[in-house]
Amino acid sequence: MAGNSFGTLFRFTTWGESHGPAIGVVVDGAPPRIPLSESDIQAFLDRRKPGQSRYTTQRRESDTVKILSGIFEGRTTGTPIMLMIENEDQRSKDYGDIAEKFRPGHADYTYWKKYGIRDHRGGGRSSARETASRVAAGAIARKILAQAGITVRGAMVRMGPHAVDRDRWDWQEVENNPFFWPDGSAVEGLGDYLDGVRKDGSSVGAVIEIVASGVPAGLGEPIYDKLDSDLARAMMTINAVKGVEIGNGFAAAAIRGEENADEMRMAGDGEVDFLSNNAGGILGGISTGQDVVVRFAVKPTSSILTPRRGVDIHGKDAEIVTKGRHDPCVGIRAVPVGEAMMACVLADHLMRQLALSAAAPPR
Ligand SMILES: Cc1cc2nc3c(=O)[nH]c(=O)nc-3n(C[C@H](O)[C@H](O)[C@H](O)COP(=O)(O)O)c2cc1C
Repeated sequence: MAGNSFGTLFRFTTWGESHGPAIGVVVDGAPPRIPLSESDIQAFLDRRKPGQSRYTTQRRESDTVKILSGIFEGRTTGTPIMLMIENEDQRSKDYGDIAEKFRPGHADYTYWKKYGIRDHRGGGRSSARETASRVAAGAIARKILAQAGITVRGAMVRMGPHAVDRDRWDWQEVENNPFFWPDGSAVEGLGDYLDGVRKDGSSVGAVIEIVASGVPAGLGEPIYDKLDSDLARAMMTINAVKGVEIGNGFAAAAIRGEENADEMRMAGDGEVDFLSNNAGGILGGISTGQDVVVRFAVKPTSSILTPRRGVDIHGKDAEIVTKGRHDPCVGIRAVPVGEAMMACVLADHLMRQLALSAAAPPR
């Protein structure tokens, strides 16, 4: 009911607030005997953590993960895995001014209306600090996927007016620049653009693309647990995400049937070859065996240096002046978060499909 858990067989529950002592996650349902260490998880947390470049918030968090349960002699035991990340660099005084104010674009107003109490420090539970916990869960999901040969990668494909040139796409480049951008030749221009946005006291939105490869045909449960509906839900749970599309997505509305439906041919090995992937690797809610492709739009950071109009809890108009440290483009750090959510959804559906096939008589 309370909405802090995600998944069916591979299920995780996150806890903690932006300025509390710690945040974390309990992962339940991870299979036993999988080798798992803190460094396996840390590698993914390091990609998301703040202060990695001048283009992300300067809040200093090492995001060091501790495994508190579920591991014995370096392997999962099949029992709940509890992970904890201590908060190290809270500056709650930055938020003193907004204790009684509602910032535009934030969850302040809705949390207040719903609960009648809110932890205003850094946005409390509504802060994207929570997304570190999902990245930790995603690292465990990736371990399950790796056994089936499934990999998950993400890239930023739009920042404000700048869109990726798909002819120049190179996955290697994604790890070489602070924007997770798959084309090295565009990086300098993006940096200059984002510097300008920040100097203006402003922020900008982004589109992120997540691609899973090696996904077998058959993942996804019709009707209400379709793979695409679970992925859309997963991405929409990420802070600041305002739109999700699968494969061709909204572009499918602008083309004709003969262009859109992915034609099929028999490949020499008896397998089916799809001649395109407009469906994003999913038909009828079930994976086709092609790459699974999801994109999501992230809104521009709401906390900007330009003063904004808000209201306060006493029913008065108020001026909102941002003092905390913020990302000028939250889409950057949303890339590892999107990857983690894709990994968690696929691990869940892989385990569901394996259970189904194991319980069924041979074809
Ligand atoms: C990785 C990440 C970092 C974020 N950092 C900030 C930030 O520094 N400042 C800000 O105003 N919003 C930030 N956000 C977005 C807010 O958390 C979010 O807009 C707010 O909680 C309201 O929720 P909603 O936009 O999903 O409706 C971030 C989002 C993500 C995914």
